Amino acid sequence: MSELRCEACGARYAETDARTTCDCGGFLSVDHPAPDARGAELRDRFARRRVVASEHPADLSGVWRYREVVMPNAGQIVSHPEGNTPLLASPRVAAWAGVRHLRLKHEGHNPTGSFKDRGMTVAITQALRVGARAVGCASTGNTSASLAAYAALGGLKAVVLVPEGQIALGKMAQTIAYGARTLAVRGDFDACLRLIRDAQHALGVYLVNSVNPWRIEGQKTIVAELLEQLDWTAPDWIVLPAGNLGNTAAFGKALVELHTLGLIDRLPRLAAIQAAGAAPFAVSFAGGFTERVRMQPQTVASAIRIGDPASFDRAVHAIRATNGIVISVPDEELLEGKAVVDASGIGCEPASAASVAGARQLVRQGVVKPDDRVVAVLTGHVLKDPETILDFHRRTDGALAISNAPQSIEPTLAALEAIVFSRP
Ligand code: F0G
Repeated sequence: MSELRCEACGARYAETDARTTCDCGGFLSVDHPAPDARGAELRDRFARRRVVASEHPADLSGVWRYREVVMPNAGQIVSHPEGNTPLLASPRVAAWAGVRHLRLKHEGHNPTGSFKDRGMTVAITQALRVGARAVGCASTGNTSASLAAYAALGGLKAVVLVPEGQIALGKMAQTIAYGARTLAVRGDFDACLRLIRDAQHALGVYLVNSVNPWRIEGQKTIVAELLEQLDWTAPDWIVLPAGNLGNTAAFGKALVELHTLGLIDRLPRLAAIQAAGAAPFAVSFAGGFTERVRMQPQTVASAIRIGDPASFDRAVHAIRATNGIVISVPDEELLEGKAVVDASGIGCEPASAASVAGARQLVRQGVVKPDDRVVAVLTGHVLKDPETILDFHRRTDGALAISNAPQSIEPTLAALEAIVFSRP
């Protein structure tokens, strides 16, 4: 059986325990029994499941195919299915970032358009295992959209707290459409998370923010799947956007475990990228992690507008374990990166572009070498935040080389020709 272990006091709980944090307040981490296979045998097993997916419904999922390292004894699962996201090459994005071997792991291809589905399928499966009747979270929008969908699939009530006026249109629309009770809190994400953590028992909800250890188990499969797509040859770098730091924590745990199981022979370095106006983790890294930093967050990338990340300590561990690095990028670079990803035909939401903008800055700093093999994770779909796209392309400050505002014309051939022939 798997076990929940407190990262602070070492207490252990059964895998079907309904706690999402320890009684001492510490975070819980899932320990799995050693699988009955490792190395090449386990790699073959994963590959076979992908090819002969019909044998077991769970094999259709890019999360549950790796169940030995996620939740080996799940029983009935709540799956869309999710995962199976592409690892893309784009010469245009690679040229912009200044790296020759760049791959984009596009998590926007998940059922609700973000990587959150990978953790949510596991957390909602666990919610049913522990007999929860309602689930809840605080969110900048993607977790709430994913929670709303998976709660509906699992037949559970859902309640979400979002910062009022601060979540992108696509995410709000999804959350409402999938039927979650949506409360707009007059405060930022950090206030929402504090509130739901304080109120979870009073509200009778099972908390599925990434403080929930099962979310982390699901999100580990982003790393497992991208490594499998690279034929289990570790890249030099995995670059990802960082907000509440659940994903950074998950990536570190995944890499250490997959290395221990002999699936990869060395660890890639993690590069966690924050927006400059919401960069407590990057500031702390620059000071050698001697202090836990908090700040009032401000960035155009609303998904990562977070000043007091919950998984701070776990993420420090992930960065240390992988000889990783944390930096921040200004909003202008993030938006430029997004515009390049969008114009290449791939597309992503603003927070996702932190990874490509971060890779570019690390190349400029000489930390990432132009010949290094880099995987940048795109965490969310382009349609998540249509308002930011329109704002960007309608800007008239002339600072942008990429700008594609729609033009209004009269319905005449003369007007059409005048426009078409005036464009370079
Ligand atoms: N990218 C996107 C698109 C996100 O939605 C998030 C987090 C992140 C990156 C950062 O991941 O928090 O694990 O460091 N979104 C959360 C939410 C906070 O509520 O949807 P992280």
